[in-house]
Amino acid sequence: MIVDLVVVIHPPMTTTTKGEEEEESSEQVVTPWDVSAGADGKIDYAKLVREFGCSEIDENLIERIERCTKTKAHPFLRRGLFFAHRELDEIVSSYEKGEKFYLYTGRGPSSESLHLGHLVPFQFTKWLQDAFKVPLVIQLTDDEKFLWKDLQLEDCRRLARENAKDIAACGFNPETTFIFADASYMCSSFYVNMVKIAKCVTFNQAKGIFGFTGDSNIGQIGFPPVQAAPSFPDCFPHMFGMNKKSLKCLIPCAIDQDPYFRMTRDVSHRIGGYKPALVESRFFPALKGESGKMSASDPTSAIYVTDTAKEIKNKINKHAFSGGGATIEEQRENGANLEVDVPWKWLNFFLEDDEKLKEIGEKYGSGEMLTGEIKQILVDVLTPMVEEHQKRRALVTDEVLDVYFNPTKTPKVFLDLFREYEEKEFGKWEKKKGGGDSENDDLCAALEEKMKLEGATENEEGCAIGAPKSEDWLRIRKERMQRDAPTEGSKSALKKAAKIKAAAEKKAAEKAAKAAARGEAAT
Ligand code: TYM
Repeated sequence: MIVDLVVVIHPPMTTTTKGEEEEESSEQVVTPWDVSAGADGKIDYAKLVREFGCSEIDENLIERIERCTKTKAHPFLRRGLFFAHRELDEIVSSYEKGEKFYLYTGRGPSSESLHLGHLVPFQFTKWLQDAFKVPLVIQLTDDEKFLWKDLQLEDCRRLARENAKDIAACGFNPETTFIFADASYMCSSFYVNMVKIAKCVTFNQAKGIFGFTGDSNIGQIGFPPVQAAPSFPDCFPHMFGMNKKSLKCLIPCAIDQDPYFRMTRDVSHRIGGYKPALVESRFFPALKGESGKMSASDPTSAIYVTDTAKEIKNKINKHAFSGGGATIEEQRENGANLEVDVPWKWLNFFLEDDEKLKEIGEKYGSGEMLTGEIKQILVDVLTPMVEEHQKRRALVTDEVLDVYFNPTKTPKVFLDLFREYEEKEFGKWEKKKGGGDSENDDLCAALEEKMKLEGATENEEGCAIGAPKSEDWLRIRKERMQRDAPTEGSKSALKKAAKIKAAAEKKAAEKAAKAAARGEAAT
């Protein structure tokens, strides 16, 4: 029985009288495909947190993140723009104990380029990747957009690659970031996860979560497991091995994606995985007002990462919704309403300097600053940011992109990434088993012995969380140890290896002695 799948965020189509329709349309709607504000033109985030059942991020959690990553929190976190979570505290607790995790985020490629709102989760993910030093997978749901939009599949596949260039331009480490598009990547272990998830969710539950109706095509109804599956590391055997519990997963996104992962979390234990954790943002508002997501079909509702300096200036000056007074006198008299002012809200996302932001808020809110002035500040912040992005994007050639998309990414990178944790685990094991004194330079053999001693199965070799578990893993490890063996740096590892080997030998001797004793007793 699945619990918690009861929140209807997009009610199934019903026949209503006109009055009822009007009443319904004044309700805010937040689904992965539709975001619209309530009657007051605002998104009620506190209500979303209540209805979705996630938690608000508090100061204490932010401080813990800063402490364990030794990194100042990103402005999106400091300013409450990433404001909600599901079990982010658990991820942090595990991390404090030395356990890594992987990040998973995505994009539905429906337009030629990203708008500034799309940059929000990607910029934040980049910060998370750097701060926590963890791997990342990015899903491009070309299939989702084909199923929902009036687009050919081939167009969606092309757009996926185009969008990937913008994503790569955010600066993700190509060695630890795997970008994949569903229509190209779908592999056996991914599919196995999908069908397992699909079997756990009834059509009624899917209707409740996503608002599917009798008119929804069956591709749409079957799609949610596609977005759910990458929450489990064994969808990426080349990176994380085949153990569904080798790594926990943290998903950064805007809160519109929450329904997918609410469903995922509800089925996780039934398919033998960890519940993915989430860190969720508010929406970067549309240029014309805080009514939710920006629309690709209305280019004046958004600024795109491809816009020129002139377009940015024109869009902001002509279309940015202002909370300032209608006349200079009114503005001087009453100040601006920051609650609805788009230039102010946008600066909160992209002006990094906290002090400057505070000063602008005070001056503009009190009427000392005029609307034209804050708009000019916004132009000055966004123009270089977008130009920088364009320069970085120009460097993302097809060859560069292929590195991100490479589905046989060398596991060595992940071994190195998780080495610190691995050695910690290794130390723990050594303590538990005790060890001998003699020196031995084959750490790899010792580790193999350790696995045998612990009776590890193929899925739970006692090695690094997140390290690939296979023949390859052992080979690469051996090569690395041989390469490192004579160096100073590996001395302690060699000592550990010696102890492990001695422990293994001791254990084997004890076992043999016991067996011999049993044999004697039997005769
Ligand atoms: P998509 O393409 O609609 O959006 C991509 C990411 O951007 C976020 N987002 C926004 N964030 C802030 N302000 C906005 N105005 C805004 N508009 C969009 C979205 O929440 C998302 O994080 N189905 C997904 C693709 C996907 C995905 C994922 C997203 C697949 N797997 C895992 C997040 C996590 C989609 O169509 O996103």
